Amino acid sequence: PLVVHITGARPNFPKAAPVIAALAEHPVRQLLVHTGQHYDERMSEVFFRQLGLPEPDVNLGVGSGPHGAQTAATIVGLEELFTAERPDLVVVYGDVNSTVAAALVASKMGIPLAHVEAGLRSFDMTMPEEINRLVTDRLSDLLLVTSPDAIAHLGNEGVHPDKIHLVGNPMIDTLLRHLDALDTAAVADSVGLDRTEPYLVATLHRPGNVDDPADVAELVRAVHAVADQVRVVIPLHPRGRGRLEQAGFMDHDNLLVIDPLGYVEFLGLVRGAAAVVTDSGGVQEETTVMGVPCLTLRPNTERPVTITHGTNQLITRASLPAAVADVLAAGPAEPGTTPVPPLWDGHAGPRIAAVLAASLGV
Ligand code: UD1
Ligand code: UDP
Repeated sequence: PLVVHITGARPNFPKAAPVIAALAEHPVRQLLVHTGQHYDERMSEVFFRQLGLPEPDVNLGVGSGPHGAQTAATIVGLEELFTAERPDLVVVYGDVNSTVAAALVASKMGIPLAHVEAGLRSFDMTMPEEINRLVTDRLSDLLLVTSPDAIAHLGNEGVHPDKIHLVGNPMIDTLLRHLDALDTAAVADSVGLDRTEPYLVATLHRPGNVDDPADVAELVRAVHAVADQVRVVIPLHPRGRGRLEQAGFMDHDNLLVIDPLGYVEFLGLVRGAAAVVTDSGGVQEETTVMGVPCLTLRPNTERPVTITHGTNQLITRASLPAAVADVLAAGPAEPGTTPVPPLWDGHAGPRIAAVLAASLGV
């Protein structure tokens, strides 16, 4: 049988890598599709190199654009591909536009659909990802979930329990596999960071933080107030870079704004950080497993398990400077003393592969 994996944006790659590796142990043929949603070397290629992903068999080259255009281009490309290849199973990851586009095509063509990282809910319909999550889950035949709250959400939405599988978190498989390769000192040196001093890592890319000029102005004030206290390194996502630059974001001596980092470099920096400030989904999970305090600059999270079983807390732009002061005053936790969610153990990939293979009868 033929299994087609759909990836396209940065957070897809560390989720797909362990699934593809584990499925190689089963008697199936695999095809890896890159939609081209992300295309900069630092947003895409570097992950294929570092994570040992196979070269994509197909790159649709859809690129950037408004939601409609980007999703539509992906749909057109995938419909042609699925018509030619007739997959027996399509596997989608996370909550990006590439994910929902593939879900629409597979379900309309009657091809079984598996969603890795199903059931996460922020209950915030202003987030494009929430729409993508709801639609993808509604259309999926196999829902592979990372945490028990996701089972409850899917149950409330009427998904039959037989379709839902609690498998753990494949992104954490990738993290644990690369933990020994993370070299904080080497990255700090290469980005020009004095590692004898404490530092924070920040990532910002949510439309809710970087799209509206009024939000951006408030964000600049808040981050500058943090940089008054501690050195901050920001590997900045391309989205919003222009608006942040215009708003004077880069004009603070204690703020080191750099290009997005490769996976190993980024997590190397995170591992040595006093804390992380982020609006990323995946970074909330990775900090939880590494025991690094995470301040999430969002009104909600679809990953509450990182609050109840991890290092995460939600903050606002107004509360950010004081939250950083508190975290710095508390100092680092003893290694191994912060909790980790159940089944985030490095073995999600094989569990997912077993569910997929069983569904194909192999
Ligand atoms: C997308 C996902 C978001 C995810 C994020 C991870 C959707 C709706 N959003 O957001 O859930 O958290 O990826 O990083 O799918 N750009 C480049 N180079 C690239 C890619 C993008 O310069 O390689 C710039 C372009 O100006 C583009 C903008 O970033 O318009 C946004 O890219 P897009 O893929 O639409 O959404 P993200 O904000 O990256
Ligand atoms: N990441 C990275 N380099 C960076 C920033 C993030 O490798 O400069 C990794 C991060 O460790 C995680 C993934 O990219 O594995 C998360 O992607 P992102 O924050 O773009 O998306 P989200 O998780 O918010 O959808």
